[in-house]
Amino acid sequence: MAKIIKDHEVIEVRFPVSDSYIISLRSPVEIPAVLPGNFAEIQIENSSDVFLRRPFSILDVDYENRIISFLIKIIGKGTKKLGEIRRGDKVSLIYPLGNSFSLPEPGKRVLIVGGGSGIAPFVQLGRILKVNSNDVTFLIGGKSKKDILLTALFSEFGEVLSTTEDGSMGEKGFVTDHSVFKSENLPFDRIYSCGPDAMMKAVGRISKQNEIDCEVSLENMMACGFGACLCCITETVEGNKRVCKEGPVFNINYLKWEI
Ligand SMILES: Cc1cc2nc3c(=O)[nH]c(=O)nc-3n(C[C@H](O)[C@H](O)[C@H](O)COP(=O)(O)OP(=O)(O)OC[C@H]3O[C@@H](n4cnc5c(N)ncnc54)[C@H](O)[C@@H]3O)c2cc1C
Ligand code: FES
Repeated sequence: MAKIIKDHEVIEVRFPVSDSYIISLRSPVEIPAVLPGNFAEIQIENSSDVFLRRPFSILDVDYENRIISFLIKIIGKGTKKLGEIRRGDKVSLIYPLGNSFSLPEPGKRVLIVGGGSGIAPFVQLGRILKVNSNDVTFLIGGKSKKDILLTALFSEFGEVLSTTEDGSMGEKGFVTDHSVFKSENLPFDRIYSCGPDAMMKAVGRISKQNEIDCEVSLENMMACGFGACLCCITETVEGNKRVCKEGPVFNINYLKWEI
């Protein structure tokens, strides 16, 4: 797949909430086809502080206007500095990287479970599943109401449910406490999940118990982002695999996860 390694112009940095922002960047060249689950390595600045590029799922692409966007949660120095960037500044991007989610047959029922910024890969996926005539339910979890983002956008592609730990939005508890999981025969043919490892493992456990096909997108820490340094490996039934190259999307049965 053709890769772009180019400086992109910052079009907008929008903060829907104080610790997360959406950054939109214009590519100087046509954007190649981006698949749901692909990510980009973003160079934040050339200082020893945040020397390595940081990986982020591609939130959305406007091919006509050559705009690519990301949903970013402030975690440390890099994500804080990137949020301070201004319209007109330039940021170097490498993408599209990694593999993508596989698609179910048209008409199949799908549950998408996202936590925090782990919802980012699901905008593109949701759009494709809608075109594919899949019946999609989004379940978004967070600590409180301010963590439940993009619900209006997701509702264009399917039903949107939520949970918050403090009960300020949706059902109270973790995503796996939601009543959608309470029925004896879960009405889904496929589950996708991205977010904290503990959440994905809990979702994976439910999927396995119910014999539902499940894919997760891992967010292991990365250095090179293209398969050279081996710092992002995860254990699978076929030995160690690089999350940046063979992933980030894996079928739950392929991972050697204790769940
Ligand atoms: C494939 C992939 C897709 C991702 N997509 C998104 C996205 O769409 N939006 C988003 O906000 N974030 C995403 N992330 C996570 C993001 O890359 C990290 O939050 C970011 O690199 C942190 O950079 P920083 O300089 O702010 O923090 P650092 O200063 O590098 O780290 C701050 C602290 O966070 C920890 N940390 C850093 N990265 C991770 C990680 N990946 N997992 C767990 N702990 C970590 C460090 O150990 C340290 O304690 C993704 C990660 C991967 C691998
Ligand atoms: S980050 Fe270097 S091999 Fe994956």
